[in-house]
Amino acid sequence: MTKLQAVNGFKDILPEQIHLWQRLEACATEVCRRFGMREIRTPILEKTELFVRSIGEATDVVEKEMYTFPDKGITMRPEATASIMRAFIEHGMHVQQPVQRLYTMGAMFRHERPQKGRLRQFHQFDAEIIGPVEPQVDAELIALGQMLFDELGLDVSLELNSLGCPVCRPPFRQKLIERLEKVQDQLCSDCRRRLHTNPLRVLDCKKPECRALVADAPSMQESLCPDCDRHFTAVRATLDSLGLRYNLNRFMVRGLDYYTRTTFEFITNQLGAQAAVGGGGRYDGLIEELGGPAVSGIGFAMGMERIVLLMEQQEQAEVAAAGRMDVYLAALGPEALAHCTVLAQLLRKRGLRVAIDYSDRSLKAQMKIAGRVQARYTLILGAQEWEQKAAILRDMETQEQKPFSLIGNTEEQCEGLVEILHDSNSM
Ligand code: HAM
Repeated sequence: MTKLQAVNGFKDILPEQIHLWQRLEACATEVCRRFGMREIRTPILEKTELFVRSIGEATDVVEKEMYTFPDKGITMRPEATASIMRAFIEHGMHVQQPVQRLYTMGAMFRHERPQKGRLRQFHQFDAEIIGPVEPQVDAELIALGQMLFDELGLDVSLELNSLGCPVCRPPFRQKLIERLEKVQDQLCSDCRRRLHTNPLRVLDCKKPECRALVADAPSMQESLCPDCDRHFTAVRATLDSLGLRYNLNRFMVRGLDYYTRTTFEFITNQLGAQAAVGGGGRYDGLIEELGGPAVSGIGFAMGMERIVLLMEQQEQAEVAAAGRMDVYLAALGPEALAHCTVLAQLLRKRGLRVAIDYSDRSLKAQMKIAGRVQARYTLILGAQEWEQKAAILRDMETQEQKPFSLIGNTEEQCEGLVEILHDSNSM
């Protein structure tokens, strides 16, 4: 009988990984608590129209990635923002409280080509602040996202852009179309198709030929209307005052149509092509567009699988570092061995991880042991070195060898080694 397997792009989360998921969920919940966010859970199925109207008809998500049951007019949610806005409107939440700070975690579904960090069922941690228009709130929400990565000890960078508003974006869009039309034959087939439906997407096409063609395309940041410009300046000033670093990226457009003004992405260079671990932005017209009150909002979503991959890599690096010795003492001959036995003890008292072998093996055999224990340095002390009072210190990463003086007593030699190891940051 053939064994049945999970559907392509749908993955089990096994007991071996669950501690990382639980740590991420607990950390996200704790960070949300500090920012006064309340949890909301919405259904997996929504009316297809909700996503078409919010995400936009000319987006990849709506055009080709949704899991839709056409006869029933329903779709499995590809993201959480549209559903949260639907719930916000349906329950008149703005009447109870003019500012709503909400978060959710759960499975989303997009029919994309699966690869590392890209699934068809994936999980998002999503946070939304609905109500305030002030630019400080944009920075506050970004700070929430950054705090999660900081708490998890993950290194990510922040890309920032502004996409303007219904006043300044249409003229910019027109300017961009005119520029791109001149080179349309050289654009990739996707971008040629998008040129008139969603020209801004051409700006963040990852294909090298398109990147080169848009390098000197007009910039939205330079085409903002005075209100959007003031807003963006204030967002940046607040981020600066909070000590949050960012890169201005005029090519970052985001794949969903509801954005206005501030947009941002958290990026890693450790996951290959799936570099975005999170992204979001302001969506000032969305709630009204969905039949709700004229209320602004800003939010982001993080890809939980991608964060878990980063946590896994971090854990592996920690395990590897924990099993790694600072120095291996390769002693050849009885005098050298007796000396290294004492030196090892002194170094260990100073907190160093020291390996030594007492069986008087050949240097070649000892170098193999040094490799096996992943020693950062090897101190080679053979009969000749002992005679000359100068051992050889080999940097196992760079393969560089330097003489290490044995003049002075063993304590002084120990100090010398401790200093070198401190400098190489291996402690
Ligand atoms: P998004 O950029 O489409 O934004 O997705 C947010 C994050 O979800 C991405 O940065 C990525 O980490 C993760 N993600 C997306 N697709 C996949 C996939 N197929 N496999 C694994 N991870 C994936 C949104 O969804 C917006 N709703 C964010 C937002 C909230 N904007 C305002 N509020």
